[in-house]
Amino acid sequence: MTDASFDPAAERYDDQFSKTIVGKMQRSRIWRFLEKELSPSKMDILEINCGTGIDAKWLSGKGHDVIATDVSSKMISVAQNKFPSVKFEVCGFSEIATRFKPNSFDLVFSNFAGLNCVDESALIVIQKDISEVLKPKGKFIGVFLGRESWMEQLYFRVKGKKDLIYRRRIKSIANIDDVSTQPVWCYLSKELRVIFNCFSVNYIRSVGLFVPPSYLEPMMRKSKVLMHTLFGLEIIFGGRRIAADRSDHIYISFSKN
Ligand SMILES: C[S@@+](CC[C@H](N)C(=O)[O-])C[C@H]1O[C@@H](n2cnc3c(N)ncnc32)[C@H](O)[C@@H]1O
Repeated sequence: MTDASFDPAAERYDDQFSKTIVGKMQRSRIWRFLEKELSPSKMDILEINCGTGIDAKWLSGKGHDVIATDVSSKMISVAQNKFPSVKFEVCGFSEIATRFKPNSFDLVFSNFAGLNCVDESALIVIQKDISEVLKPKGKFIGVFLGRESWMEQLYFRVKGKKDLIYRRRIKSIANIDDVSTQPVWCYLSKELRVIFNCFSVNYIRSVGLFVPPSYLEPMMRKSKVLMHTLFGLEIIFGGRRIAADRSDHIYISFSKN
């Protein structure tokens, strides 16, 4: 199964997100949280919605066995060309349970809102499939869009775009890049806790409480002082569970029941 939504964005995804100040800062926070959850011994890891493979390369570099998957064949070909030593496969969320054997992985990882591309009823099925391919006590770690991002709400309020202020509360259309769009569904952390009913929450962290959403990259580029201040605030105050729903992204770690 392939879904062409992200195909047009694949070649430019790194320039438009991964290599930006916002992309690098938010990913560095995620890696900081993720690092603490990796075991020192070799883990079997399945990455879903891996995009251009940056996390898969990082996890492989730490000595783990990684299979990284994405529904977009273009994303997978960009990733494979960049990182030939990592194992990438085209695989959509709906294929997880049929493509991989039960009890295969210590960790399933989903970064930067891939799972916000499906609605709640699909997410309920996907979390069950993820649980099936995990070993007993296996973990699922996901990074989702924060539903009440205060920076986004403030930005659209200041811009006078009233209809966009609370767009994350409803099914909305996100810009993947300058040309492509994708419908997204956002959840509060307490809703994710209910949806992931095959799991128990280990912990929840905020990502992007002060580092803004990626469309504010131009603002970050304009002022180094602002950029360093926001990153400093992110390090001091970000990460807190209580702020997760108000952040650009929510990092949530679950263990299989
Ligand atoms: C915002 S990108 C994140 C990419 C990557 N995880 C990262 O950290 O940069 C979202 C990814 O989700 C993938 N995706 C969307 N729907 C999917 C589905 N149904 N199955 C698997 N991957 C999907 C897209 O192809 C895209 O690569």
